[in-house]
Amino acid sequence: MTGGAEHIAALLDGFRAPQCIYVAARLGIAERLAEHPMTPAALATATRADPDALHRLLRALQTVGLFAFDGDRWHHCEASRALCPGHPSRLHDRAIGLGSLAWSSWGGLEGAVRTGAPAFDAVHGASFFEHLERHPELAAAFGRTMSSWTAQTAKALVATHPFEGVGHLVDVGGGHGVMLDAVLGAHPDMSATLVDRPEVIDAGAPALGDAARERTTLRASNVFQDPLPTADAYLLSWILHDWTDAQCVEILARCRAANPAASVVVVELVLSDSKASAAARWFDLEMLVQTGGRERTQAEFEALFEDAGLAPPTFTPTPGTHTIVHSANR
Ligand SMILES: C[S@@+](CC[C@H](N)C(=O)[O-])C[C@H]1O[C@@H](n2cnc3c(N)ncnc32)[C@H](O)[C@@H]1O
Repeated sequence: MTGGAEHIAALLDGFRAPQCIYVAARLGIAERLAEHPMTPAALATATRADPDALHRLLRALQTVGLFAFDGDRWHHCEASRALCPGHPSRLHDRAIGLGSLAWSSWGGLEGAVRTGAPAFDAVHGASFFEHLERHPELAAAFGRTMSSWTAQTAKALVATHPFEGVGHLVDVGGGHGVMLDAVLGAHPDMSATLVDRPEVIDAGAPALGDAARERTTLRASNVFQDPLPTADAYLLSWILHDWTDAQCVEILARCRAANPAASVVVVELVLSDSKASAAARWFDLEMLVQTGGRERTQAEFEALFEDAGLAPPTFTPTPGTHTIVHSANR
């Protein structure tokens, strides 16, 4: 095979390993092996799997650097420990999300590309967030995965954006509270409201530390139906990319309606022609498949802000992958 053909073959063969990692996560292999190494028979009994099939699964995963077999027992290698449920990488949750949410909807990519409509709805018979509402264990795993992604972005936001003159901040779709924990930690006089869907608020914003929690009100509400609380600034971190242009304009206009003098701080990936926007290009497709949203260029963000009646935004890249899109609007 030529180099190009080998490259494509390797990309095509890449589909197997993620599904194997998902199945290992579902069976709880990593947590079993964290207790002690186990023979294939004992591991199969503990995880209620077929001994031969399980051994074959793990033997395949071993070829991509996960788990180790000493001829008698399976045990962890350094990389596979990251699949334990409590590991800070939250890769266990991500694997569960991949197998339970992403795998089937990516199977509908052709339909999404032909129609422009999200594959998720066609495959699951409900929108992404409605599906999470019906499956609390998936909602919890999604929230933890988001938190692990957002933790780095939260540090970058605090290092980059001054939040000057902001006494009260509303975090729209604030999830488990990772962003607010970082922002309130850096601004001891600030208070906040975390707005999210009821099933997310029910989880109690587990990422909020005690100090931030004392200054935060949790509010279950639908951003498309309920007025937002009045605040000096509205934070939208990884929110606009979930929605169509019309829905984004509605969200931004609702921030403006709640307080026309407030600033709006959007944290998103920004699409560009540079190779650096690889993450944005892949998430853009992820949004097409999962929610019907999209990643956007600078010009596309400017148009959304204008249509919502907000002042033209500034764009500040953070040390991480995200950009802060800020409309001072004063
Ligand atoms: C991609 S996550 C981003 C979470 C968090 N802002 C972050 O940066 O990690 C989108 C969030 O929007 C919330 N959300 C979705 N639809 C919503 C709605 N109609 N009203 C309020 N929040 C909503 C979801 O529950 C979720 O927490």
